[in-house]
Amino acid sequence: MCGIVGYVGKRNATPLLINGLKRLEYRGYDSAGVAVRQADALVVRKSVGRLAVLEQKLAEHPVTGTLGVGHTRWATHGEPNEVNSHPHTDCTGRIAVVHNGIIENYQELRAELTAQGHKFRSQTDTEVIPHLIEAELAAGAPTPEEAIRRALRRAKGAYALGILFHDQPHTLYAARHGSPLIVGVGRDEHFIASDVPAIVDQVQRVIYLDDGEVVILRADGVSLSRLDGTAVEAKIQPVTIAAEAVEKAGFETFMLKEIHEQPRILRQLLARHGWQSGTVALPDFALGAPYFRKLNRVMIVACGSAYHTGMYGKLLLENVTSLAVETDLASEFRYRDPKIDPGTLIIAVSQSGETADTLASIRMAKSWGCKILAICNVPGSTVARESDAVFFTEAGPEIGVAATKSFTAQLMAFALLAFFIGRARGELAETQAQELLTDLQTIPDAIHYVLDRKDEIRTVADKHHDGPSSLYLGRRFNYPTALEGALKNKEISYQHAEGYAAGEMKHGPIALINEYLPVICICTRTRDEVYAKMISNIKEVEARHGRIIALATDGDATIAQLAEDILWVPPTRDEFSPMVNVVTLQLLAYYAAQARGTDIDKPRNLAKSVTVE
Ligand code: AGP
Repeated sequence: MCGIVGYVGKRNATPLLINGLKRLEYRGYDSAGVAVRQADALVVRKSVGRLAVLEQKLAEHPVTGTLGVGHTRWATHGEPNEVNSHPHTDCTGRIAVVHNGIIENYQELRAELTAQGHKFRSQTDTEVIPHLIEAELAAGAPTPEEAIRRALRRAKGAYALGILFHDQPHTLYAARHGSPLIVGVGRDEHFIASDVPAIVDQVQRVIYLDDGEVVILRADGVSLSRLDGTAVEAKIQPVTIAAEAVEKAGFETFMLKEIHEQPRILRQLLARHGWQSGTVALPDFALGAPYFRKLNRVMIVACGSAYHTGMYGKLLLENVTSLAVETDLASEFRYRDPKIDPGTLIIAVSQSGETADTLASIRMAKSWGCKILAICNVPGSTVARESDAVFFTEAGPEIGVAATKSFTAQLMAFALLAFFIGRARGELAETQAQELLTDLQTIPDAIHYVLDRKDEIRTVADKHHDGPSSLYLGRRFNYPTALEGALKNKEISYQHAEGYAAGEMKHGPIALINEYLPVICICTRTRDEVYAKMISNIKEVEARHGRIIALATDGDATIAQLAEDILWVPPTRDEFSPMVNVVTLQLLAYYAAQARGTDIDKPRNLAKSVTVE
């Protein structure tokens, strides 16, 4: 979603804003803009499309100043055009605002302000903010800060804001409610940004803002307060990611780099959560064994790829505990009446920790008295901060829009968590847990094996990439893998792809099969009882002349006779096979996207962090 960067200090703001916006490109956007205070005026430059267009415009019409805000817009209200791009200004052009979020009561506010004589230019919800501030100043607000507070007390919805005033040459204002925003603390300079990667090359210390906070930034300091004016103490924290973590490190794309990082990340997680006192270690974990012993139900909520890992987590938790486990899409869960009591644990899964629906679900469940356990990748994110306990996946910044390393790290987190909970409840025997953990240790090498065979995967992708559609089939642990494989394919290659539980084929989708349809069948095995069922499902596809691409375990002669193409994986315990199989599907989607010439790291219409509903 929209990205924000702001600067106040002694250097020229413009290149710093562009540099920060480039580092936020991964969030997805369709237009961009900056406002910089030059001489006595706020100069605004905007453009549609990639940042390079804005850079070109700034090269032709430079703007220089030591105070500015920048924005990448992911359109919600109003099409992507220059007028709708941020920054937005008041009637006089003396107040400039960048915004991430949605002002839900903007129509009502806009009507009121229009009746007062304010002139609106865009179709956006954001534009009401500068006009509201302008109106509050005209109505007698004694300071810009107080005008902001009064304006924001009237705005409903979510916002992260950066605000400039033409007559405040040394002050940047910001506020947050429901959308992420951080402050970067430098020497004689301060930044605001939507997240840490935007400014990781500029500062080593940050402040994570809380909802309802307003912040005033000057070169020599920051002050925080709440909307009611009460002062808040700033908690300055060190930046924990390295600047190199947001570089491509020689790979052609971030996605390819992140796919290759997976064995290392999983190995790290396994090392950190090794065997200790008869169970897996969960260092610094805020929910202990006594809590899990009393638990009677688990509800997993997440969106997109994280939802797929939640489906996997359910299967694994059911396998090793007696808990009733349900997984739901956060966007659906928040509008259900799921009869949940405080005896239910909510597991919220989110790479970014900022997904609006996941956050809303957490807040709803908290109001019912439930404990929240987050599986999250971003320290300091809202999900992490609002949860009772966090299992950090420690995958490092994920820049490619398509989830890859965060996905396998979430699967691994679920495995370790399931063993911990199973042991805590006395439902998973120590010997069995140890055996499972031993098998889990083989996963990083198995992923290496897949990475080493990427040329074979590329050959298959090249052969099948140009069809209009493809179908992904799997069962049990690999049903979520099928859904994830299809999601990867559609989001980066734009080829329609559908993931399905193979046993459901006969109930409808089998009608799609003809001699042109690639059907990706996940049919790996060690001792899985659904293997035989999967073979029957593949035969049904074969009987209708579907083009079978099988994911199979090395040496499987049965599959070799059925499939047109085979992507081999090493033998892996069935429960953990999704961690390996999905890497094959990530690469399959990657090479299909490459063959189709898409922008792999920044696929059209998508945002990395979905901070609006
Ligand atoms: C997956 O490739 C997508 N980027 C998307 O489905 C993502 O998983 C979803 O938006 C959830 O994001 P989160 O993990 O940051 O909450």
